[in-house]
Amino acid sequence: MKQKLIVGNWKMNGSLAANAALLQAIKQGLPADNKAGVAVAAPAAYLAQVQAELAGSAIGVGAQDVSQHEQGAFTGEVSAAMLKEFGVRYALVGHSERRQYHGETDAVVAAKAQAALSKGITPIVCVGETLAEREAGQTEAVVKRQLAAVIHQVGHCVSELVVAYEPVWAIGTGKTATPEQAQSVHAVLRAQLAAASAQADRVPLLYGGSMNAANAAQLLAQVDIDGGLIGGAALKAPDFLTIVAAAQ
Ligand code: 13P
Repeated sequence: MKQKLIVGNWKMNGSLAANAALLQAIKQGLPADNKAGVAVAAPAAYLAQVQAELAGSAIGVGAQDVSQHEQGAFTGEVSAAMLKEFGVRYALVGHSERRQYHGETDAVVAAKAQAALSKGITPIVCVGETLAEREAGQTEAVVKRQLAAVIHQVGHCVSELVVAYEPVWAIGTGKTATPEQAQSVHAVLRAQLAAASAQADRVPLLYGGSMNAANAAQLLAQVDIDGGLIGGAALKAPDFLTIVAAAQ
């Protein structure tokens, strides 16, 4: 069976003390024979700390964003090369909170994915529809449009991506997509990737949106759900570890 991947997205949470405690607990609680890939996407300010805490562990360091630009006069931005210096393996791109609050377009998200890949960082490309879009029957069209922009940009590197389906209405709301709802969108994304790359099967398709210790196993049992992108539940070590345990 394909290895599953569980990524914690801490969003704008944490402190030096809280991060240290959380990472210690996660490191200690991971089963010795853990088979899942595990990573945490931390705020940029804490990447050095997270890199140091995770040195020698199998847990990957992730960033929550990356600049589309290589360097220069882009105040506040962090480049892929800078992330790479802190051992960053994954970068979220196009999280709905970035699309919504920072005006990121499909084109910007695609450029960010390309910037990450160019420095050997795996982009975790987030796609997902709003409640209004779902109710208007546009779910498929929206996620396909969002993913198409990235596929078009990265060309033959499609198989190097991770894709996360995060329905906006399920993020931080406690309303999870049902396993069937999530699976049916994942199947659409899988087919789209397959049309673009012979190696599309390699692309982990994560589900995100109120995934928690209680519902993870059912979601992860779906044929096209290869892992999870976890928000709130990633801030509590026992919950995060239960999700990792469900991904074995
Ligand atoms: P929640 O798990 O808090 O709903 O957040 C999901 C998410 O946005 C992960 O990127």
